[in-house]
Amino acid sequence: MAATRSSRTAPADITAAATASFERCADPRLRELMQSLVRHLHGFATEVSLTEDEWRKMIGILTDTGHITDDRRQEFILWSDALGVSMLVDALAHEAPPGVTESTVLGPFYVPGSPRRGYGESMVQEEGAGVPAWVYGRVRDVAGNPISGAELDVWQNGADMLYAVQRPEAEEDHLRGRYLTREDGTYALVAVRPVPYPIPDDGPVGRMLAATGRHPWRPAHIHMIVRANGYKTVTTHVFDAASEYLDSDTVFAVKPSLLRTFVERSADDPDRPPAITGEWVSLENDIVLAPGEDHGAVIDPGRTA
Ligand code: BEZ
Ligand code: FE
Repeated sequence: MAATRSSRTAPADITAAATASFERCADPRLRELMQSLVRHLHGFATEVSLTEDEWRKMIGILTDTGHITDDRRQEFILWSDALGVSMLVDALAHEAPPGVTESTVLGPFYVPGSPRRGYGESMVQEEGAGVPAWVYGRVRDVAGNPISGAELDVWQNGADMLYAVQRPEAEEDHLRGRYLTREDGTYALVAVRPVPYPIPDDGPVGRMLAATGRHPWRPAHIHMIVRANGYKTVTTHVFDAASEYLDSDTVFAVKPSLLRTFVERSADDPDRPPAITGEWVSLENDIVLAPGEDHGAVIDPGRTA
């Protein structure tokens, strides 16, 4: 029935009009995205009977998010992380077949172009970075065959809870490096035992966490991107199975299959690698890659530290 001057406009009429406004969008995927976005946004406002004051505050939060975001700080991604959207999109994109190493969130502290380091070399470039950790394992395919020449792009925080990229005075390549597997698929590196840390919480996301009674902490982990020609790249973590916050990671990135035990070792342990002095820990972590091409997986020769 056509609307008349005397008919009233209901909230649902506004949703219908906004959805229909994309009907002539020539790109079918863009049409689907925009119409679904409008439906869900309107559904949210309708479901909670969103007030004008609340909507104004939300726009203020988005404005603050834009203002705090720059080349070094990406608060929009932090929202995506803290609301679980990053992990959801990752899960939708990378369904790992049984046995294949599961993916998890990239996070904001990845810096491409880490130095290429040799087998067993240390990526610790500053004193007092933490308890030395011998991290080793094998990269293999689902049938158990070793993958040689796979690249492990590794980064982590130190005992001060910070990634080097968070400290302007830090050695640029501290606690990061790219390692290649040997003929038998093995790799090894010297890292430090990672510690739990809070995500940046001095901005809008931190205010949301405080206002809702959530904490900003992530459990201790080491990041890895593993690339090999002919295999799908995996962006993942290895979590310290003894860490706090495994049950309440503020970015929802813990997957049980990624938990590993850091074994505590004494200074006189006969297996102590030459690059390590004093007490240390060891961590065995195998990676299993799924077959497939990945255009992001091209391994370049890199630079040395
Ligand atoms: C990280 O693990 O580096 C990270 C991930 C998401 C948000 C903040 C940090
Ligand atoms: Fe991290």
